[in-house]
Formats: sequence, structure tokens, C-alpha cells
Amino acid sequence: MAINPNDFDFIRKLIKERSAIILEPGKEYLVESRMWPLVNSEGLKTIEELVQKLKLQSRGPFAQKVVDAMTTNETSFFRDLHPFEALKKIVIPEMMKIRAKEKTLSLWCGASSSGQEPYTILMLLRENFPELINWKFTFIASDLSTEMLTRCREGIYSQLEVNRGLPAMLLVKYFQRENMTWRVKPEFRKQIDFRQVNLAERWPIMPKMDIVMMRNVLIYFDVQTKKKILGNIRQLLKPDGYMFLGAAETTLNLDDKFVRVQFPQAGCYKIGT
Ligand SMILES: C[S@@+](CC[C@H](N)C(=O)[O-])C[C@H]1O[C@@H](n2cnc3c(N)ncnc32)[C@H](O)[C@@H]1O
Repeated sequence: MAINPNDFDFIRKLIKERSAIILEPGKEYLVESRMWPLVNSEGLKTIEELVQKLKLQSRGPFAQKVVDAMTTNETSFFRDLHPFEALKKIVIPEMMKIRAKEKTLSLWCGASSSGQEPYTILMLLRENFPELINWKFTFIASDLSTEMLTRCREGIYSQLEVNRGLPAMLLVKYFQRENMTWRVKPEFRKQIDFRQVNLAERWPIMPKMDIVMMRNVLIYFDVQTKKKILGNIRQLLKPDGYMFLGAAETTLNLDDKFVRVQFPQAGCYKIGT
């Protein structure tokens, strides 16, 4: 049975309020397809029943499950490749030169989904910049979704997931086999500080960052929210730091203080002078 307009409206508003994710009219099919698994796992019968329960428990774990279900968590290891090439060839070498004296590097991955992006960066750093082992290295990775954060912290991936973009050499070096899955080795997992951060709300106190990855998340927000997030990133970035956006994202008409770094298709920005 299709979702009724009032229920769609209730979920749409709740999702906007809790995550800033915009569900335009016409996205009823998306809400239905994301809510049905929850209807079943919660032992309910219909989406109407789910909305009734949500009205009674609009804060707390059940509402969080509804928000989690409406997030799109598409990701993969080395997704889009170009940003990682830019990190390897320009950004990290430059940062290591600038910070050679203090030997500190800080990085935030602001929409880490199930963890492939932060683990990709960790492997890239370990493989190409082994001297970083002697640096004070701060690596925060965050997401809104409780379920995704659990996945990040566990670091467990199916064969299908590791087949998407992860070179075999890195798989055998950084992962261990666990039954039918692959798990990031504990010594690498513990190098990333996974936290829950809602980009649409007040951000927790974080150290100033050299690099901010904010890839493939702004697309879900309205213009006002995108502007606010880009402004917050500018406050958090060190003046010589770098920010990465997704391939379909831009700062154009949103924040004219960022300038694009000329590296093909990397979605890499600096704060202009
Ligand atoms: C498509 S994934 C992007 C993953 C990764 N950055 C990449 O490019 O492969 C988008 C992620 O943004 C998260 N997200 C959506 N709204 C958010 C919000 N308000 N605050 C923080 N994370 C959010 C979702 O939970 C999801 O995991």
C-alpha cells in the first residue's frame, strides 16, 4: 500500500529537522522503500503504524532508526580515485613540508558512511608517507547514522564491498579474514576516532583541521544548509588547509571564499587569500 500524503509529510518534516536531508514531493517511493524494512524489523504491519509509533517516540532510538534509514550510504574504497591522487601527489606532500617542524597532521572525514573513505585515506597515508608514524596524527571520522558508525568502528566488509576499489595488495596487508568477511586489523581501526556528528546542528569542539573531506553529503541539503556547513568548514580549517567535496558538488554560488585547486576532478579547495 502506498504511503498516504500526511504520513509522507510527517516523515519528510522529521527528516529535515533531524538531518537537514531534503525529501522533495515525488520522493514517496524512496520513503516507502526505506521504511518497509523497518516496518518488518519492528514487528509492525504498515507504514501508517510506523508513523503512529514515531509520533509517540519522536525522540530516541526509534526515531534515530527512521533517520538512519533515510540516509543514503553509497560509498566505496578509493571512490572516484582523483581526490586520493590529489591527496597523494599535492596535499599531503605540501602539508608535510609546511608542518615539518611541529610534525602534526589533522584530518576530518565528515560523512564517513560505512568507513571505506576514512580507511582508504589511512591506507594511502601508511603506504605513501610512512614517516607520519612519528607525527602527532589526529584523524576524526564522523557520520549522522548510528548504524553507519557501528559499521565504521567494526570495520567489517563483505567480499563484494572489498571488490569495489580495494587493491588486493592493500586487502591482504590491512585486513584479516573473518569467516566470509574481511575486517580491518585492530591496529589500523584504532587510529581513527569515529564520532557521531550531525552536520546540520552545532558541531562539537574539534581541533583545527589541515584537511576536511566533505564528500557526497552536501547534495542532500538545501542551499541554506550547504552555505552554513561550508562556512563552518572555513572556521575549522587552518588557513593553509584543504577541503574536498564530491564530484557532483561545488562551492560555486554558495561560498566565494573557497578557491578550487587545479587538480583534475579532485573536488579540492583552499581558502583564497
Ligand atoms: C553518500 S554517503 C557519502 C560517503 C562518503 N563520504 C563517500 O563519498 O563515499 C553520505 C553520508 O552522509 C551522511 N549524512 C547525511 N546527512 C547527514 C548529516 N546531517 N550529518 C552528518 N552526516 C550525514 C549519511 O549518513 C551518509 O553516510
